[in-house]
Amino acid sequence: LTVHRKDYRPPAWLVPEVHLTFDLALTCTCVTALMTVRRNPQAAREECICLLGDGIVAETVMVDGGIATGWHMEGDDLILPLAQDDAQITILTRLDPAANTQLMGFYASQGMLCTQCEAQGFRRISFFPDRPDVLSTYTVRMEGSAAQFPVLLSNGNCVQSGALDNGRHFAVWHDPWPKPSYLFALVAGRLVANRDDFTTRSGRKVDLAIWVRPGDEAGTAHAMQSLKHAMAWDEQVFGREYDLDVFNIVAVSDFNMGAMENKGLNIFNTRYILAEPDTATDADYDAIEGVVGHEYFHNWSGNRVTCRDWFQLSLKEGFTVLRDQLFSAAMGSDAVKRIEDVRILRAAQFPEDSGPLAHPIRPDSYQEISNFYTATVYNKGAEVIRMMRTMAGEDAFRKGSDLYFARHDGEAATCEDFISAMEDGAGLDLAGFRRWYEQSGTPHVSMTMKHDSSTGAVTLTFVQRLSASGDDQVPRPMVMPMKIALFDRSDSAPGEFRAQEHLLILDARECRFRFDGFGEAPMVSANRGFSAPINLDIAHDESRLQFLAMHDDDPFCRYEALQQILTTEVLATAAQGADTQRRRAITDIFSFTLADDRIDDLMRGELMTLPPISVLIETAAPADPVALQTARIALQAAIGTACADQLSAVHTRTAQHRYSLDAGSRGARKVRNHALFLLAAADGDAAARLAQRQYENADNMTDRQGALVAIAGVQTSLRDTLLEDFAQRYRDNALVIDKWYAIQAGAHHPHVLDQVSKLAKRDDFSLRNPNRVRALYMAMAGNPTAFHEASGAGYEMLARLILALDPINPQTAARFVPSLGRWRRIEPARSALMRDALKRLAASSYLSRDVREQVDKSLGTD
Ligand code: ARG
Ligand code: ZN
Repeated sequence: LTVHRKDYRPPAWLVPEVHLTFDLALTCTCVTALMTVRRNPQAAREECICLLGDGIVAETVMVDGGIATGWHMEGDDLILPLAQDDAQITILTRLDPAANTQLMGFYASQGMLCTQCEAQGFRRISFFPDRPDVLSTYTVRMEGSAAQFPVLLSNGNCVQSGALDNGRHFAVWHDPWPKPSYLFALVAGRLVANRDDFTTRSGRKVDLAIWVRPGDEAGTAHAMQSLKHAMAWDEQVFGREYDLDVFNIVAVSDFNMGAMENKGLNIFNTRYILAEPDTATDADYDAIEGVVGHEYFHNWSGNRVTCRDWFQLSLKEGFTVLRDQLFSAAMGSDAVKRIEDVRILRAAQFPEDSGPLAHPIRPDSYQEISNFYTATVYNKGAEVIRMMRTMAGEDAFRKGSDLYFARHDGEAATCEDFISAMEDGAGLDLAGFRRWYEQSGTPHVSMTMKHDSSTGAVTLTFVQRLSASGDDQVPRPMVMPMKIALFDRSDSAPGEFRAQEHLLILDARECRFRFDGFGEAPMVSANRGFSAPINLDIAHDESRLQFLAMHDDDPFCRYEALQQILTTEVLATAAQGADTQRRRAITDIFSFTLADDRIDDLMRGELMTLPPISVLIETAAPADPVALQTARIALQAAIGTACADQLSAVHTRTAQHRYSLDAGSRGARKVRNHALFLLAAADGDAAARLAQRQYENADNMTDRQGALVAIAGVQTSLRDTLLEDFAQRYRDNALVIDKWYAIQAGAHHPHVLDQVSKLAKRDDFSLRNPNRVRALYMAMAGNPTAFHEASGAGYEMLARLILALDPINPQTAARFVPSLGRWRRIEPARSALMRDALKRLAASSYLSRDVREQVDKSLGTD
């Protein structure tokens, strides 16, 4: 059942053309697929064509117009003997979209019909060589009730449409660009559009439309703005222009992932489209901009150049994540965006990379590809390409990217093709760098500094801890760019610190670099901008960190220095109690930060953020997550107490701000909420009153949600009052009710598990809606108070969820397994309970392939 990368063979048959006909109905849609197939001269001859299927039945099979007889089924797949070199194959299938709860293939969502084909959903619609290296030109004809499905959309351009008898109508769409089946899409339903247009730099006028359910139009303005910004940015920065006359986006309430880049017809989870000030936070607005950009950028990095096989997933995802990160940075704050991206990488990808589900960004094998849409493939994949950009410089990187697109336009390419294009176009030698594609795990690098006061020489030594992996018996070092700066203490007044930045390349187990002219030992700022996605140990010197936390001119390193101090203190508190001296240093830094007028509030907000609990667990391993959570809150309380006056002043100052999406106004909301959180940890009762005022006066969701989050962790009757008010106020908005679920499941509250059980029994909770399931249970799984409750009740609850969800939606069910898979990083008593939960899952009589793979790997028994 395991698929291996090394087993790749080119397809025996190509399918240059596909004609699909859909006779649409909610419970019975008839699909006729007419495929022109042709032997692939590049592949070994095969006497049969293998058409992959998944849970579908062929009602009729025809070859060149006559009924075919010699075919048979092998499991889910249809095997059809073909002696000739070319043929026209017609296959009829009948689907029940309303019964498709997996949300893969063709399904119904709130009365509308839609598709999700990546990675292997097309085979749930029609028998097909459903692999990304088979590219076809699609023509799609849909017909159905005009009342039920007034809007009919597919990829490309609408070439024909009209009325039929009996209240029915039809539309024909044609996509001139050959594409793999995973990029096919169809949408039919009662939808309204926010329309706009964009003219490309070469003068093509593109009609843009964002389709939503009637009543949701007002929430599409930000997504539309983001789309137009993304189209312009991709022209300016990557030289990429849009290539069709229409670009449609549809928002769907039931969706397994964030969004999908189907050619000319992107399909989105509503949460990445709909936003209004009263219902969406600033973070929601940012996520929409990022995801709209991401899917749009796939038009080149993914669609025009696609993947040869699914092992190459990072070719499109890593690159496209980097592109969306650079886009968001350009639209907002570069510094803050980098800090956010690194925080996500560390909180989500580092734990994955140090656990049983670790895999290289280009995996060598998989059982179920859906399990590989991971933080490693996406976010570490983006870091790896970012490193190429850092080593090449922006201009050379652009040359490499241009060459990649020029060489492989219209092809299904590999990661190796990308690396080669970067070597040739950007003039890089990436021989050793390729190891990033082969090796899993976060590299460890330690740095030491030697200073010779007689010569003024400074020597930096970097040593990598090496590990062997895969077929490779000999451990080899990673190649990485290391940005550093040396601050001369005797140089200037603190605050005006600017040192020259150096780009070092680490390419051996041990690398040494010498710098001259330092009378005193300088302060080293290393891995600036997080130039390499590694764990960097620097021989401990807390005074150095304290200095950098206030004065480093690299925003990431300033943030990072403070995070390190805070992490040390949380870990110390959990293990042996607070360190008075370090606490004083920390509150001094906070006090300094709150008053520092060299930074804006968006950056100040970052510096007021304590390390995420998942990072603390990862650092402390084997961890007692509840002790860490308690210690984290205690440290927040200490800061809240020591800086109470300043924090209250911040809260008051920012109350004057008028709502807008400007950086100033967003920054005000960010520091305002962080001030509230710190004050709430210090004095729950006083902060509850402050939170109530913030809640009641709020004219936007950032303020209102922040107040509710603050009060959700406080034991007060106000808590229930505000939660109830929120539920009533937003009862008609599913996305906001998701927040309401998540806030309660994520709260540090003694009865949180009981509350989660109660929430799961509500009428508006359904296992069929992934957003709702994730809102409740991802928040629970990320909340130590709930998930790591000492009896193991949290693990039990998650295991029961996985079992209940698996038959309904295996892909989403499998996403909950990794939380249990972290058992090796947890203290022995809980660790054993986590394993017990996994073992019970493993012993279950029915498990999907998705969940089975994650459970077996998590236990280490695969
Ligand atoms: N390609 C999509 C993206 O933009 C993700 C789709 C993955 N879907 C899935 N069912 N595995 O990242
Ligand atoms: Zn993507």
